[in-house]
Amino acid sequence: MSPAGDGMGAAEAPFSFSEANVERAKAVIAKYPDGRQQSAVMALLDLAQRQNGGWLSQPALEYVAEFLGMPTIRVAEVATFYTMYNRTPIGRHHVQVCTNLSCWLRGSDEIAAVCRETLGIDFGQTSADGAFTLSEVECLCACVNAPIVQIDDDFYEDLTAESMRTILDALRAGQTPKPGSQIGRTSSEPMGGLTTLTGGDGDGGEARPTGES
Ligand code: FES
Repeated sequence: MSPAGDGMGAAEAPFSFSEANVERAKAVIAKYPDGRQQSAVMALLDLAQRQNGGWLSQPALEYVAEFLGMPTIRVAEVATFYTMYNRTPIGRHHVQVCTNLSCWLRGSDEIAAVCRETLGIDFGQTSADGAFTLSEVECLCACVNAPIVQIDDDFYEDLTAESMRTILDALRAGQTPKPGSQIGRTSSEPMGGLTTLTGGDGDGGEARPTGES
């Protein structure tokens, strides 16, 4: 294992957008009024991170700053404020365990324990094979389906120790586990089934005549 960011990549490797990302960056910038191109900084940082193997090196920050004509320190302020930007190298899969209140009440301690045990690493570490980085994060804003773990771009919801283990084993085997609720509910529908609007055909009912309350 290694701390996330202890030299898995060449920190000072030069960075510039690929041709495709140059076009994507221009398309994002074009969405903003003249003189407001710096508002695209978050989207461009995301593009840079994806191109750079999941993290933002100093050359990547400097490149984005130059691309947008803004001071590097202001780009760095954005990149260090939001946890979705990684300032150190990460594994191929980034497992982010929410341990905030709703998830904690719904068993995030157990989920975190399964992650530690299955991956053999603690929060802030990357597995020796470079496959996984494990992070602890604040509320992922999906509390109603707690406990939640974000892996790469997907949310895994309504987790149990067993389903968490199954997901990690599948990733390790090179599979893509199905994201979303792991107990089969659609989105955040009630776990016990519908409790309202159960009698009609779902078309919203008949319209009342004008003037009737
Ligand atoms: S507390 Fe975990 S998603 Fe909100």
